[in-house]
Amino acid sequence: MSLARSILLRASKSQWLARQASERAFAQKAVRKFMPGEELEDALGASAALKAAGFGTVLTQLGESLTGLSQADAVRDHYLALFDEVKQRDLPIQVSVKPTQLGLDHSIEECRTHILTLTDKARATGGFLWLDMEDSSYVDRTLDLYRSMRQRYDKVGLALQAYLRRTPADVAALLPLRPSIRLVKGAYAEPASVAFEKKSETDVAYFDLAITLLAASAKGECYTVLGTHDIGLLARLTARAAELGAKDGNYEIHMLYGIRTRDQQALEAAGRKMRVLISYGRKWFPWYMRRLAERPANVWFVVKSALAG
Ligand code: FDA
Repeated sequence: MSLARSILLRASKSQWLARQASERAFAQKAVRKFMPGEELEDALGASAALKAAGFGTVLTQLGESLTGLSQADAVRDHYLALFDEVKQRDLPIQVSVKPTQLGLDHSIEECRTHILTLTDKARATGGFLWLDMEDSSYVDRTLDLYRSMRQRYDKVGLALQAYLRRTPADVAALLPLRPSIRLVKGAYAEPASVAFEKKSETDVAYFDLAITLLAASAKGECYTVLGTHDIGLLARLTARAAELGAKDGNYEIHMLYGIRTRDQQALEAAGRKMRVLISYGRKWFPWYMRRLAERPANVWFVVKSALAG
């Protein structure tokens, strides 16, 4: 891992920096590169505009690692209302949640109750619910939660991270459930014992895992989402997908709001099924630092925003 990436990921855990950044206008301006706004209404407005341009979206409210379980109730209620809003506005929006937003640090059973309440709401409104994957200490518990969701409803999905050495085994164990899997490279600082250190190793692992998933998707045994902005990798994967018999309807490509927007449009124009993940909310600091860590050159954008006042 590069030094810059490691510093930025360490900084993402600082409460002090989070407080400083959220009070600074230049930081708020810089963060807008990756989010249409802090309010749900901003995300819904961006979803409506993206729908008109041929894109679906996935919405997630920022905020992780709660300080108390009572906060999880408010997060659950927020997402319950969101499912109603999506149905009422008839927008192609899916919802993605982080288990720690729903109390996983405090009690897996409380968290499971919240996640199953959201799963039932997704089923009642015809919605789709994703679980994000957080750092490696949460993987076993997140898989456990996903299994509970999957027993209740089919339109539920899980993010898996290609940089983790364990992921091929996790994919093999999940496939009998006919899962929906969003494959991502992985965004957290992890020890070499659990994750690949070199980006090139992660890229190879991503390709291999994606081929396994696409082959299963071609047989109707899973639904694959390629969650990456790596255009070269996507070109190789979509070519391989066609050879494997996976059609555009068997898989989708998801990217983050504000990243490689022109490529997103080009892929959509080429007939790919595309979704944009939109984050919103005031607790953006750790998430934003992970976005900077993915491309430390982004830090210059922050510096420029600070200098421009
Ligand atoms: P890579 O890092 O190789 O980037 C490829 C190219 O994309 C770069 O060269 C650059 O041009 C561009 N790019 C990538 N990141 C950028 C950035 N921040 N700013 C500007 N340009 C950038 N992670 C996780 O651990 N758990 C999760 O649940 C999720 N969920 C998730 C959903 C979706 C839809 C996406 C797209 C990503 C995630 N991630 C995630 C994040 C993921 O793990 C990973 O950190 C980022 O996607 C960056 O990796 P890429 O696959 O884009 O490749």
